[in-house]
Amino acid sequence: MSPDAAKSAPQGPPTPTPSARLASAHRPFARAVGMGLALLAAIAIIGPLISYRSDVSASRVQMQARLARESALYADALSLHVSLLQAELERVAQQPEVNLRDDTAAPEELLLRIAHQGSSLFTGGVALLDLQGQVIRSEPHGLFAANTALQRSPWFQRVLATRGSTVDVFSAGEETLAVAVPVRNEGVLLGLVQASHRLVPQLHDEGESLAVLGPTGNVLFPSSAPAWVRQGGMLERVQALAAGGEGEQWELAGTPVFAAANAVRGTPLWLLMIADQHAAIAPLRGRMRLQLLFIAVLQVATLLLFALSLRRIYRGFLAFEARVTQSEKLAALGTASSLIAHEVKNSLNGLGAAVSMLELGGDAATSVKTLRGQTNRLGHLARSLLAFGKPPVVHRVPVQLERVAQEAVDGLAALPERSEVQVTVHSAGPLRVQADPLMLVTAIDNLVRNAIEAAVGAKDLGRVSAPWVRVSAERDGRWGQVRVEDNAGGPPPGFEERLFEPFVTSKPKGIGLGLSMAHQALVDMGGKLAFERTAAGSCFTVRLELEP
Ligand SMILES: Nc1ncnc2c1ncn2[C@@H]1O[C@H](COP(=O)(O)OP(=O)(O)OP(=O)(O)O)[C@@H](O)[C@H]1O
Ligand SMILES: [Mg+2]
Repeated sequence: MSPDAAKSAPQGPPTPTPSARLASAHRPFARAVGMGLALLAAIAIIGPLISYRSDVSASRVQMQARLARESALYADALSLHVSLLQAELERVAQQPEVNLRDDTAAPEELLLRIAHQGSSLFTGGVALLDLQGQVIRSEPHGLFAANTALQRSPWFQRVLATRGSTVDVFSAGEETLAVAVPVRNEGVLLGLVQASHRLVPQLHDEGESLAVLGPTGNVLFPSSAPAWVRQGGMLERVQALAAGGEGEQWELAGTPVFAAANAVRGTPLWLLMIADQHAAIAPLRGRMRLQLLFIAVLQVATLLLFALSLRRIYRGFLAFEARVTQSEKLAALGTASSLIAHEVKNSLNGLGAAVSMLELGGDAATSVKTLRGQTNRLGHLARSLLAFGKPPVVHRVPVQLERVAQEAVDGLAALPERSEVQVTVHSAGPLRVQADPLMLVTAIDNLVRNAIEAAVGAKDLGRVSAPWVRVSAERDGRWGQVRVEDNAGGPPPGFEERLFEPFVTSKPKGIGLGLSMAHQALVDMGGKLAFERTAAGSCFTVRLELEP
């Protein structure tokens, strides 16, 4: 394959620049750090969320228990209050002055006035009724219009039927509580209490409400009770809830609530307490939001700090890397300079000696041979340095590996040492790979050249009597490979680890660029160059992926 043919071949995938290679090497690191940070953030958020959920369910249980306790407490208080009212009214009714049959009205009036004004128990007023429900006396006067008949009121009927005292709403839809007691078979003493006036406690907790239901499910308190309290079947629900003794979670008009109920002992009344679940959990939710916000701010700040310091470290790392590369370059340049100076000086000495020989009329043939040898040596130095300094431009095309190997061996036929070494080429079928033919043939050329030089050197030193070099092209799985083996005993001590470094040579006329360039060429083509020591000497293996 000629260099021209290679140049006119279609261009393969672009070779990444060193900086792009560096960036792609750092990308996985940045990705790993990012994933770690994201994981930390997720853990920091999931923690408060789990604790919020358990806090909410614990507080639900607590809220319900608290509501049940409060409901029982309020019901007991109301029951006590009503018993007190009943007892007071019964005491007045049993006074001998309260007599509807005598003609005197003054004692009754006085007692009624004391009952109404003397205490703050009957805020709505007090009245004496006859058995037909007609108002005989009332305090204050004109509490009812004249001829008002209350005999159809449920509480009035109940007092007559049971001949005992009763408590009920005065009339449906009112907040007035009626306490009625019989007056020795002659009438009924009625006391009225405004339910809103100290009878039922005012609730201050937001989202909590209290309702008092009468014996028929009528709402005694509050008059402005929401519609759901007046729904049909509410009394049965309340009675079932009170029987359970503990609170329940209800859904009222689409709102989840805690509910608790109790019977008001000694009365036909029922007390129902409701607490809005959302309002109860709102402080917890607020606290959780604050916690999450705090964590988020902390996380963002940590991330920022971390990113900033990472950037600083990363920049320092890059600067350090650049410095190392620079000093490596300088070191290589230093080695190269002294090597070039040494080579040029040796060649100049040789050239000077040959010219002097010619001037002195010495053997012209020897002088010309020396001149040619030294110019060849300087030419090799110049070509190697030029090729080493050039940036790699890779033109990958389909090539047959075994043919390139054969071409490289054939190209070395004119090498002076070649005749002293037995070079064999073995090929195992066509091995199609993608490669730059010129770069590949140069790389294999270097390997075979090194092997021949080493084998001749070993023969000269008397280490081997029959030096050989074996080149074999073969398949190894998905790889096509060319092995270059020799029986020269391997590289000298201390060279094995640095074989692929530039300007490393053990030869007096060597430059130390052959292996370094071959190695770089294989990497640039997506392949590999490996070395292994064998029993007889060295084995260099060129590997390229076979075409499917
Ligand atoms: N087949 C081999 N057997 C033993 N030593 C080897 C072999 N190939 C390479 N080496 C060692 O590796 C060194 C570097 O080889 P490389 O080809 O890079 O440079 P060089 O041959 O010394 O000089 P040049 O740049 O002219 O090729 C050689 O000097 C030699 O010591
Ligand atoms: Mg070499």
